[in-house]
Amino acid sequence: MSLGVAIFGAGRAGHGHARAITQVAGANLVAVFDADSSRAAAFAETHGCEAYTTSDEVLKRDDVQVVMVALPNFLHERATIEAASARKHVFLEKPMADTLEECDRMLKAVQRAGVQLLVAHSQRYFASTIRAREMLQGGEIGEPVFATDTWYKNFGVEIRLPWFLDRATGGGMWLMNGAHMIDRTSWVLDTEVASVRAWIGSPFHNLSADDANMAFLQLRNGKHATIVHAGYKTRGVDRCEVEITCTNGMLRFDSYSNQLAVDRDGAYVPIEVDRKEPFAEELANLVATINGIEELRVPPVWGRHIVEVLLAAEESSRTGREVSVSPTGLNQRSPSPLAAGGPSLHQS
Ligand SMILES: NC(=O)c1ccc[n+]([C@@H]2O[C@H](COP(=O)([O-])OP(=O)(O)OC[C@H]3O[C@@H](n4cnc5c(N)ncnc54)[C@H](O)[C@@H]3O)[C@@H](O)[C@H]2O)c1
Repeated sequence: MSLGVAIFGAGRAGHGHARAITQVAGANLVAVFDADSSRAAAFAETHGCEAYTTSDEVLKRDDVQVVMVALPNFLHERATIEAASARKHVFLEKPMADTLEECDRMLKAVQRAGVQLLVAHSQRYFASTIRAREMLQGGEIGEPVFATDTWYKNFGVEIRLPWFLDRATGGGMWLMNGAHMIDRTSWVLDTEVASVRAWIGSPFHNLSADDANMAFLQLRNGKHATIVHAGYKTRGVDRCEVEITCTNGMLRFDSYSNQLAVDRDGAYVPIEVDRKEPFAEELANLVATINGIEELRVPPVWGRHIVEVLLAAEESSRTGREVSVSPTGLNQRSPSPLAAGGPSLHQS
């Protein structure tokens, strides 16, 4: 039986998911909910579904089994709890929520309702990200030493809705893209974050939401990573890539352009990688999990972990101190000899 999907939020992410659903066997788009009636109507017209301006009516529909929450971050908790209470499975855009208290209430609600919750950390579904992780795990270029994750892009202030310009409603580049960067870098290194030291600011637009940030992550497996992100205003270059420096070589991947490269003779040499459609891949994973065929590729507590790291970085930026992050309890590969014995910046 095909699962009926309702999308909450007719914005950038909502449109992307509506296009992806057409590539997922076992799922079909039924409805869209958006408080803005003209956005909901235009979305319904484009993607061929019914438009709603209240969520209640959608949640009453028996032909909706999955709710995809693509709303502003401050609405993630309410939408998830309402959907779970109506016994709908939830596909939730990242970051999971704006606070850990919200995350905990959401985790309880889905557990109580016995429904699945997939937090959509889409970066780990890109083909180049997956291949990079496989190469690192295969030890082809030795043991990872550190990762540098860099993302520069135009902030695009003129196309952003008001919620994105205000930290109080979950806006800003750190929550939007820091969530992606922390997830992809931790995932390719098969670990989680143990502590963070960060600076987060708004030098380009002077908003309450940030437009630039730098974070230094101590990873649970003893490795280290930097995250550097800027949403510039006028001039700048576009770059989105992760570089992993290993004991016997270097690797670089760019999820969006599906590029992967490994060093040879002092320069990067591209490696061919087949494309995957990440939004379709993640929905397919949720559908297969609901049907008892797979397990969630992102466990819900990972969504909470990413929120904890995001908030720890904000605290570090406010206080100037390094902030610890609690262990997830998820299975990680054991620390390597290099990680256990190697020198740590933290300790020196
Ligand atoms: N995984 C990804 O690659 C990716 C990409 C973009 C956005 N996102 C995530 O998706 C979510 C939405 O981001 P976006 O960029 O699509 O936002 P957006 O601003 O483009 O769209 C948000 C939509 O929500 C609607 N909305 C606002 N308040 C509402 C309310 N009270 N009730 C109902 N509808 C309301 C708006 O009318 C708008 O259509 C965020 O959590 C973001 O982090 C993820």
